[in-house]
Amino acid sequence: MPCLIELKNITFGYPGAMPVLDELNFDFDTDATGLVGDNGSGKTTLLHLIMGLINPQSGEMLFRGKPLTTDADWLELRKTVGFVFQNPDDQLFMPTVIEDVTFGPLNLGHSQATAKEMALQTLETLGLGNFADRLTHKLSGGEKRLVAMATVLSMQPEALILDEPTNDLDQDTRHRLIHILRDLPQHLLIVSHDWDFLDHVVDRLAVLDEGKISYRDFSVLHVHKHAHLAGDADHHHE
Ligand SMILES: Nc1ncnc2c1ncn2[C@@H]1O[C@H](COP(=O)(O)OP(=O)(O)OP(=O)(O)O)[C@@H](O)[C@H]1O
Ligand SMILES: [Mg+2]
Repeated sequence: MPCLIELKNITFGYPGAMPVLDELNFDFDTDATGLVGDNGSGKTTLLHLIMGLINPQSGEMLFRGKPLTTDADWLELRKTVGFVFQNPDDQLFMPTVIEDVTFGPLNLGHSQATAKEMALQTLETLGLGNFADRLTHKLSGGEKRLVAMATVLSMQPEALILDEPTNDLDQDTRHRLIHILRDLPQHLLIVSHDWDFLDHVVDRLAVLDEGKISYRDFSVLHVHKHAHLAGDADHHHE
């Protein structure tokens, strides 16, 4: 089986600025991958590039082993890979939750009845069964984030890319999300600063630093708690 998505020597910079991604190599395949990196290191940029929302200045991107050249290739990629934006307001644009979650399946050519059924089923899976008739613009930040995820999952993509999915989530909802993601059959690529969350969900960690990706054994970066006397004063660990 060829790799789902492969990036080769990708360089990208915003106009008038230094490259954010510099001869970067990355593969997104069958596992659940966490992508970490400092603020501004280019994680969101990398995800936008994978979805074809921006184009690299140089390098090559392969989808199932083939270069993406035509609009049809990109359409196929976007059908296969669902993308949940960092900001839910970029994803939600219909008046009600059910309209937003039905929009994707309708767009894929399903009938109104089937699309609604797919939407309701997805909302149910996410524990949002009673949200169907809520007004999207009146949802809380965390509720919006889950509904944004529902709009993507309702299309039943093969792979899912999430940009900081635990932002704005309370502890209960965050735990619910961990269980939901672990039960999903989709390949996952998740950007997060929440390492404890990643520890529960992903099996591989990619680190973006100075425009390049390196892979780490997750055990090196796992979160742990410790306690000792004078722990509330400034101190160093060797
Ligand atoms: N549309 C844009 N135009 C110009 N510069 C941009 C644009 N979007 C992002 N940048 C810059 O590119 C760099 C990478 O931004 P990006 O949003 O990809 O980082 P990030 O790793 O996702 O950060 P965060 O963890 O804060 O979400 C930053 O220096 C940012 O200021
Ligand atoms: Mg970002």
